[in-house]
Amino acid sequence: MEHQKSDEIVALEVEKEVCSEFKAHVFSSSAELLERLHEKWSSVKKQSYPAMYSSVYGGIVLDPAMMVIPIDDHMVHRGHGVFDTSIIFYGYLYELDVHLDRFLRSASKARISSPFPRSTLRSILIQMTAVSKCKKGTLRFWLSAGPGNFLLSPAGCPTSAFYAVVIDDDFSQCKEGVKVITSTIPMKAPEFATMKNVNYLPNVLSVMEAEDKGAFASIWVDDEGYIAEGPNVNVAFITQDKELILPFFDKILRGCTALRLLQLAPKLVKQGRLKSVKTANVTVQEAKRAAEMMFVGSTLPLLPIIMWDEQPIGDGKVGELTMALSDLLWEDMVAGVGMQRIPVPYEKLTS
Ligand SMILES: Cc1ncc(COP(=O)(O)O)c(C=O)c1O
Repeated sequence: MEHQKSDEIVALEVEKEVCSEFKAHVFSSSAELLERLHEKWSSVKKQSYPAMYSSVYGGIVLDPAMMVIPIDDHMVHRGHGVFDTSIIFYGYLYELDVHLDRFLRSASKARISSPFPRSTLRSILIQMTAVSKCKKGTLRFWLSAGPGNFLLSPAGCPTSAFYAVVIDDDFSQCKEGVKVITSTIPMKAPEFATMKNVNYLPNVLSVMEAEDKGAFASIWVDDEGYIAEGPNVNVAFITQDKELILPFFDKILRGCTALRLLQLAPKLVKQGRLKSVKTANVTVQEAKRAAEMMFVGSTLPLLPIIMWDEQPIGDGKVGELTMALSDLLWEDMVAGVGMQRIPVPYEKLTS
């Protein structure tokens, strides 16, 4: 027969455990906490986050110790948030408007209404980049159901929240090829894969699986056996007939870089180097017979793939057409004209 422990015994056991175990520090003031955080940040060799915006604060912060979001924000504990990433390239924001449009489409699918109109979000992002003084890096931004409570419904969150951060980063054109594997982690259902929401656990596990197997990343195959995408990148193929094919975007994220690639690639068709450019369903068998294969995504913008599940793609070397497409995207980032590149008014906002 089990004996119930008396309240006294339970209390004694708890006391013993608490006294002998790790002692959690209780901060006596926010000043003490801030001092601790500043100590932590001062030991960081390179401070990679020059600026953050938070609608909860109502402004831009430059102190990394203060770049935090509330724990009761529904994006933190329920994943009710969407995001996007755009790049800062030589003082310009590349394709900001395309990313902003996708961001707002994701927010609408996730039923999050922005606390500001689009023009204000855009202006905040440009101002924050200017104040950050960062000329090369990434701009990440989130819309969240906002802070309020720990329930499932966002009904108790008075206002949605907008957060953004500038990350100092260097980019160079990817010239080496990488290895990939087919992911065994189930991919997200189309409704969730087509909106850029913060639930990236399948994507994280999929990249970890690839790393465990000595590969760079993985490829998802959908339930019908067609190629889908990588964990945070789209994928493209050049067939033996020199056709550039990207999988349809109906079950995956409509990548901004992939869309730009589809606009730029016809230049190679005009030059007679490519036969055609299209989106289509691609089976695994067709994909593995490709002459060239590549990842396509904002921070790459194009990464050659030379091995897949330990089998070479084409001759197992970085493809010539892959590099020609990479050059097209790179030139567009460096010198593209019009709305592709938004100039950041650094001098105006920092003088
Ligand atoms: C799942 C997924 N697919 C594709 C992409 C590529 O999109 P983009 O070219 O807009 O960076 C991303 C990155 O945003 C992604 O997270």
